[in-house]
Amino acid sequence: MTTLTSFPEIERPTETLIDFRSDTVSHPTPAMRRAMAEAEVGDDVFGDDPSIHRLQARAAELLDKEAALFVPSGTMSNLIAVRLHCRPGDEMICEAGCHLFNYEQGGYAQINNVAVQPVQGDSGVMRAEQLADLIRPGNAHFVRTRLVTVENTHNRGGGRIQPYETVEAICRWARQHALGTHLDGARLLNAVVATGIAAPRWTQHFDTVSLCFSKGLGAPVGSVLAGPRDLLAEGLRHRKVLGGGMRQSGLLAAAALYALEHNVERLAEDHANARRLADGIGRIDQLQVCSETIDTNMVFFRVSEEWGGAAEFSAAIQRRGLLMNATGPATIRAVTHLDVTAGDVDRAIEILKGVAKSARSSAGRLSP
Ligand SMILES: Cc1ncc(COP(=O)(O)O)c(C=O)c1O
Repeated sequence: MTTLTSFPEIERPTETLIDFRSDTVSHPTPAMRRAMAEAEVGDDVFGDDPSIHRLQARAAELLDKEAALFVPSGTMSNLIAVRLHCRPGDEMICEAGCHLFNYEQGGYAQINNVAVQPVQGDSGVMRAEQLADLIRPGNAHFVRTRLVTVENTHNRGGGRIQPYETVEAICRWARQHALGTHLDGARLLNAVVATGIAAPRWTQHFDTVSLCFSKGLGAPVGSVLAGPRDLLAEGLRHRKVLGGGMRQSGLLAAAALYALEHNVERLAEDHANARRLADGIGRIDQLQVCSETIDTNMVFFRVSEEWGGAAEFSAAIQRRGLLMNATGPATIRAVTHLDVTAGDVDRAIEILKGVAKSARSSAGRLSP
């Protein structure tokens, strides 16, 4: 079978798969599916889908913004946000490892004609002092610096929660210089649950905020972009031209509403499972957890050289029913989510242990 995907097809092992590739892989529960099946719907392009209205109102309230716009993906949400803040020939400042800069096909440039000034952070965290001299002079040689984006939690930073004071300082600096601020809060609620700092306290510093329902919250599709009403009225136009106008999308809104109702507090379980996984990995000689703290639901770890590389290791554990993606030559990422239990974590640790040892027992040769 040929599928249209940029990822290698999974060789299905005989054993049950435990899937740690991402928190996007969880399946809607029967209760969520029931909520979807029973959703009241209309045609959202005509603006008369009641479930979409409910979700947008609920998201705006949660994020303490005037309005929210439902969009198919986090990528589209970020893309629209950049377009709302910037004109062609403008520039945005972001952290060098952020999703918007690295994993959204350069939509900011490809579609919005916006340049980027990336700032090297520490595990995804940039400090306000690093930004001090970054605003371009106002003459015709330069792009116009317009926007600062922050990602919280930070994916490539290992699910890192941005320090609250840092966020405050960056956004204060941005405002002082009349720059727009956008929060890629795809996993903001992970930060909320882990810190106890309520969503509005995080979001008050930003003009626009993106939040995803299809990650730790367990919905099949969808994100929102929240912000000022007049800005989002323009955002609705951008969503249409990007092909994001959907019809009976109340079915999807119902899943997102269900997720907000039932799947937020439980993110704490994902965080505990990630710590459990990191502890287990920490006890395996050939593997090394990359960061000292596991803030939320991600664990990045390095595979020792005797194993050849992360891709080989990932393929070997896959043959034993465990899915984790290589994210670099020697690095693997594991993400906990709704479909992973503490028992699954323990089984995963046993598989990792067995595979890691198999390299050592064959004196450095690959023996998956
Ligand atoms: C931090 C962050 N922002 C945005 C996105 C994009 O979301 P989507 O996959 O829904 O386009 C992701 C996806 O993993 C992400 O991790």
